[in-house]
Amino acid sequence: MRYMELREQLCDVCHKMWQLGWVAANDGNVTVKLPDGNFLATPTGISKSMITPEKLVIIDAEGRVLEGEPGYKPSSEIKMHLRCYREREDVGAVVHAHPPTATGYAVAGKSLDQYSMIETVIAIGSIPLTPYGTPSTDEVPEAITPYLAEHDVFLLQNHGALTVGADLITAYYRMETLELFAKISLAAHLLGGAKEIERPQIDKLLYLREHYYHVTGKHPGYKHYNKDEQ
Ligand code: 13P
Repeated sequence: MRYMELREQLCDVCHKMWQLGWVAANDGNVTVKLPDGNFLATPTGISKSMITPEKLVIIDAEGRVLEGEPGYKPSSEIKMHLRCYREREDVGAVVHAHPPTATGYAVAGKSLDQYSMIETVIAIGSIPLTPYGTPSTDEVPEAITPYLAEHDVFLLQNHGALTVGADLITAYYRMETLELFAKISLAAHLLGGAKEIERPQIDKLLYLREHYYHVTGKHPGYKHYNKDEQ
């Protein structure tokens, strides 16, 4: 089977998302860009705990299925993923999940765009709340497009979370960072509210963000996981 290491890495991400309680039933979807410009995608309607390499489908930039076992169609959210790749040449992977605390913010209609925690500023910057869209329709890609140029992590109103990255590990890490930040923000809220970092300090953190290759560029694991495609 082609792209076996990448398929296994994608399955690993799906299994982690389920183990972490970020998805129930068939929630969530993951895609990764292939060297030939096509995409490996999770199939629709399957628990992320049950994803195995042969169940993944290969699609083109229009969402047409190029390879896949009979009966497996690409995720119903594929238009949202393809829009991320279309708008951002640097994006190599997209992860969508419903991590409960981050999704709590999305459901409450609250963004997480305060610069209040050092690691989050460095790793993911600010996190906008994108407008409501009916899943699987063009409404979702349309809703996220204005935010794509400036952000790597998004809260989808009344829906869940979306992260992009140069590679799968980076996109996955960003979802982890988002959910931890959401938990910390909720704890801070209970304790009287988060205190924003002062602007000169924020600028220093944003400068660091530019120079941390593992959060803005490809993760060191990328080469290893993609060696079968060289
Ligand atoms: P799919 O099973 O089609 O990927 O949909 C899951 C989901 O999370 C919809 O938002």
